[in-house]
Amino acid sequence: TSDPRLVVISNRVAVPKARGAAGAQGGLAGALHAALKSREGLWFGWSGEESESGRTGHIDTQTNDGVTTATIDLSQRDIDEYYNGYANATLWPLFHDRLDLAEYERETAKGYERVNERFAELSAPLIGPDDVVWVHDYHLIPLGERLRARGVQNRIGFFLHIPWPPTRLFVSLPYHERLVRTLLNYDVVGFQTKEWLDSFLHYCEHELGAEIDRNSGKVSFEGRTTIARAYPIGIDWDHFSRLGETGEARQAQQRLMSSTRRRAAMIGVDRLDYSKGIPERIDGIGRFFDRNPERVSDLVFVQIAPPSREDVESYQKIRAELEQKCGQINGARSEVDMVPIRYVNRGYSHAELFGFFRAAKIGLVTPLRDGMNLVAKEYVAAQDPEDPGVLVLSRFAGAAAQLKDAVLVNPHSPDDIAHAIRMALDMPLEERKRRYQAMIGTVRDDNVQEWTANFLRDLGTA
Ligand code: G6P
Repeated sequence: TSDPRLVVISNRVAVPKARGAAGAQGGLAGALHAALKSREGLWFGWSGEESESGRTGHIDTQTNDGVTTATIDLSQRDIDEYYNGYANATLWPLFHDRLDLAEYERETAKGYERVNERFAELSAPLIGPDDVVWVHDYHLIPLGERLRARGVQNRIGFFLHIPWPPTRLFVSLPYHERLVRTLLNYDVVGFQTKEWLDSFLHYCEHELGAEIDRNSGKVSFEGRTTIARAYPIGIDWDHFSRLGETGEARQAQQRLMSSTRRRAAMIGVDRLDYSKGIPERIDGIGRFFDRNPERVSDLVFVQIAPPSREDVESYQKIRAELEQKCGQINGARSEVDMVPIRYVNRGYSHAELFGFFRAAKIGLVTPLRDGMNLVAKEYVAAQDPEDPGVLVLSRFAGAAAQLKDAVLVNPHSPDDIAHAIRMALDMPLEERKRRYQAMIGTVRDDNVQEWTANFLRDLGTA
């Protein structure tokens, strides 16, 4: 028997023209591309474009690299209210514990509902009777309920790529109960880690009064049962680990190594997002230089930070803050022939990133909150087993639950980051190898294909 066809629905779709800029697209698009290329499926979502007037409802279907995508444009108002507004100025900050940045506007909440309804209207006719439907991320929480309201009876699963916040924060959201009730229309709801899962279950139990069976992950509420479990996402190991053999990766590695010469390169790669802890990271590097002035010339820090969600105010602010901080440290610490921080606002292909990761003696991944963080896994995957670099990882990234042998830090503490950098720079080869060996197994085995298989297994049998 062949697998049922998979219909993936997410806000962001990796349309070919946007690929290559891997750093800018985030983990979701890359992972879903990998999940779909090896099976028959359809990927429905937003094109990222504004619709020309009169063209609403048009679906653009394309097949590239064995992946069929069906994308729709959105009106400027929809983009403002649903994407910039409710998804990225309300849910994103709240779910990353940034209550101070979360905006609660009734208009954007309505826009969110409206666009979810629109996604349901346009995607429902594409769903065949035997298809399995898999909805992704915080933009589309109510979609399952909207599809059910249109008579879609297929198995429908949902995966949240970002954290689920603690109940005491989540209840600050107006209509929080409605959002969770819509989630319970799915057959399976997946989270990146046990921590986010536990927060969700805590809410279901204590705020909704649902019945929870923690062993099976069953949440029973008003006569329906949903399976809620943790499925940590991974990288496309087969694809990524082979990039090392490409000329593109070798060249990128060479380029970084020859430009840093005897200095150790330290690298960060993040969408320019306040959840990534980039200014805090720069503070930690500044602290390292303050404490170890004799070692300023040992280190070059490369921060690759493609801009993201530029129409949202908090993203404009973080960008300005970062420019100022990098400028300050470089002004104070540069020499005529040396700049300690290279700050780059663009994305690179996966092959180039592989080369940069391999050239870098230290990978700095220090988000304040992160659902998983695949950069951490990619950094490990790109290392030379005979001479691996050191991963410095925030304990608040979902990845820390699996990568326990990274140098774990508190990303809020400049002293902690400074200390970790010093430790990483001085770490003996033996210890670097030991840590690498302890991490590479989970990076290789708990990969994106496993993640897909585990989720779909539960969705098939749930
Ligand atoms: C995170 C989110 C994804 C999102 C990505 C890039 O990884 O979980 O849903 O696609 O960021 O952000 P963007 O707003 O450009 O889609």
